[in-house]
Amino acid sequence: MSELYSVELENIVKRFGNVVAVDNVNLKIKENEFFSLIGPSGCGKTTTLRIVAGLEEPDEGVVKLHGKDVTDVPTHKRNIGMVFQHLALFPHMNVFENIAFGLKMKKFPKEEIKRKVREILEIVKLEGLEMRRINQLSGGQQQRVALARALVIEPSVLLLDEPLGALDLKIRQHMMVELKNIQRKVETTFIYVTHDQTEAMTMSDRIAIMKDGRIQQIGTPLQIYYRPVNTFVASFIGEAVNLIEGDVKEDGFMETRLGLVYCPESEIKGKAAIMLRPEVLEIGNKLKDLDNILNGVVQAVIFKGSYVEYRIEVEGTSFIIHKHGVTNTEKIYPVGSRVEIGWKRESSLLIPLD
Ligand SMILES: Nc1ncnc2c1ncn2[C@@H]1O[C@H](COP(=O)(O)OP(=O)(O)OP(=O)(O)O)[C@@H](O)[C@H]1O
Ligand SMILES: [Mg+2]
Repeated sequence: MSELYSVELENIVKRFGNVVAVDNVNLKIKENEFFSLIGPSGCGKTTTLRIVAGLEEPDEGVVKLHGKDVTDVPTHKRNIGMVFQHLALFPHMNVFENIAFGLKMKKFPKEEIKRKVREILEIVKLEGLEMRRINQLSGGQQQRVALARALVIEPSVLLLDEPLGALDLKIRQHMMVELKNIQRKVETTFIYVTHDQTEAMTMSDRIAIMKDGRIQQIGTPLQIYYRPVNTFVASFIGEAVNLIEGDVKEDGFMETRLGLVYCPESEIKGKAAIMLRPEVLEIGNKLKDLDNILNGVVQAVIFKGSYVEYRIEVEGTSFIIHKHGVTNTEKIYPVGSRVEIGWKRESSLLIPLD
């Protein structure tokens, strides 16, 4: 039997005048998956989400929910919940009334509304705040009211568009963990849109990266971090990346402006880039047992708390290295030091260039 998907997008195209906002997108999102859609501003994330919700009609393609074609089904019959950056909570109502609103509209009996609201308040950890007005809540609490309001109607899919965008960093980090926990508890498919790759990495089972209306790659956080399919994904994901461009020669070598470099075995031939994440590079004076060792000069040292970031210049090329586990007695190479940097070929990745 074929796997049942919560949401399927097949060859979706959406144009606004000359702009192709969504350019032939195909997606299969599994039941109870935490799926994120990420990419730079204007790449088509919100439009894709609105097409799933039925708020936007695609010019081409098919939308399926739980295997059923819903392309022509209106929003209110799709059983989809939504949370956006601008929460649009009702300021004149208290927390209970805000959450109960959708159930009242659906004419649920009073007792059942009370029970459902109580249950959801417990899940989002807002017990005891039922009577508070919205403007008496913190940003994070308001966010949880919006989440509770969307979840209480038990949607089969919850769409979230930059829901943490308005919160400051500490609350955002806290809410990321909370959101993931809530998603596990309610067992609902979440589609989460953000331009912040850290948010997506923290919470998602799988992530799709978009650029100019097209999906570049779909994969787990680990896959897209260590196995990006192109240099756009390599640069968009993660805090930093080192890319050395060159020409793949016979097996295992690449000619670069830094000379011949050992690269991992791969099918890729011709123009390519070697990708090195900042934590796989080593720095020292007498490096051993590495396939590649280059001589450089320290240009900058930034102490980031749990690691030290080095910027090293090697013949006009700048490398970023993250050294973890540095203790205060350990030597930190000061600016101007001559150092070696090195790596094993298997900790690098070859990416084709077009
Ligand atoms: N109603 C509209 N009319 C015309 N153009 C639109 C409309 N909505 C979106 N667009 C255009 O479609 C493209 C995709 O927009 P979309 O809002 O989906 O991007 P996004 O990835 O959500 O960006 P952001 O991260 O800034 O929210 C953009 O070029 C945008 O200007
Ligand atoms: Mg958007």
